[in-house]
Amino acid sequence: MILVVGGTGRLGVRVTRDLAGIGQPFRIMARGRSQPFLEQGRSEFEVFRGTLSSASDCQHAVEGCEQVIFAASGFGLKTGGTPRSVDRDGALRLMEAAEHVGVRHMVMMSMYGAAADAPMEFLRMKYAAEEALRSSGMGWTIIRMGANLEQFLAVMSQPLETQGKVIVFGSGGMPVTFTSTADAAALAGRALSDPVLGGQTIEWGSGTYSLNELASAILANAGRGAIKRIPVPALRIMSVAARAFSPFMARMAAAALWMESGAAAFDPALQRKSLPDIPVFGLEESLNPSP
Ligand SMILES: NC(=O)c1ccc[n+]([C@@H]2O[C@H](COP(=O)([O-])OP(=O)(O)OC[C@H]3O[C@@H](n4cnc5c(N)ncnc54)[C@H](OP(=O)(O)O)[C@@H]3O)[C@@H](O)[C@H]2O)c1
Repeated sequence: MILVVGGTGRLGVRVTRDLAGIGQPFRIMARGRSQPFLEQGRSEFEVFRGTLSSASDCQHAVEGCEQVIFAASGFGLKTGGTPRSVDRDGALRLMEAAEHVGVRHMVMMSMYGAAADAPMEFLRMKYAAEEALRSSGMGWTIIRMGANLEQFLAVMSQPLETQGKVIVFGSGGMPVTFTSTADAAALAGRALSDPVLGGQTIEWGSGTYSLNELASAILANAGRGAIKRIPVPALRIMSVAARAFSPFMARMAAAALWMESGAAAFDPALQRKSLPDIPVFGLEESLNPSP
């Protein structure tokens, strides 16, 4: 049995779709708060409605599991949690429970740039979770993805319908390496079945684009609209002031400032070369997803 923690999220849904496609039994853990659960009553998966804030929920979730994919997050708009409470503390709680019942391998979804002294809290929390996993008694694979491509496309496109605008954070000129959901899910699935990926920290990107390039692609795809830019000084204010009324927008502003510094681009070519059969799911597929 494989446990997919955060199996209702953007990435988690894709991972579970892939697992269901190969007939692999799995269990989803989530609270059922930010997204609905997939249709129930199908034999190949179980649903465990629980929270990473509870040690006993974590213990129930891992019972009978050999492998775990950690794809939960407190970064997003609707989670009500924080990177500290979910990405770090929730992950640590889950790891303790998993180790206790003898889970043999855990795949941790992390982010490029994770470091103890990273400028974004999210990256510091991810690094703490990575370190705990590396020093656990379990086998592990850590996937450091770039910023999620679909999440950025969605946030930037959000005012397109109502205002005919696409948001660009900052100058929009710096290169950023993004990872599409399908790409990250494909590697997570591979990590479950390929022992060669055990004990590896893999930096996995789908494509490098500036935010201006993403905005142009969204506008071309929609066939209408214009850019609405949030200047860097406004981002600085937003990253602090928005914490009180929209923690998600404060986190997005902090991420945009990090991108503006040029630190969010990397070259995934070497890692991709070692896994040539995983196709790149890039911008075109993310803008026009197949049903
Ligand atoms: N998005 C990015 O740019 C990015 C970049 C690098 C790494 N990652 C990592 O990739 C993974 C997937 O990200 P995503 O964008 O797919 O996340 P997402 O769409 O925001 O989904 C988050 C998932 O976590 C669950 N969750 C949140 N709080 C929980 C709690 N207290 N207990 C149990 N489940 C909880 C949510 O379900 P409920 O709310 O229903 O509980 C949901 O299933 C995460 O580990 C994330 O940190 C994401």
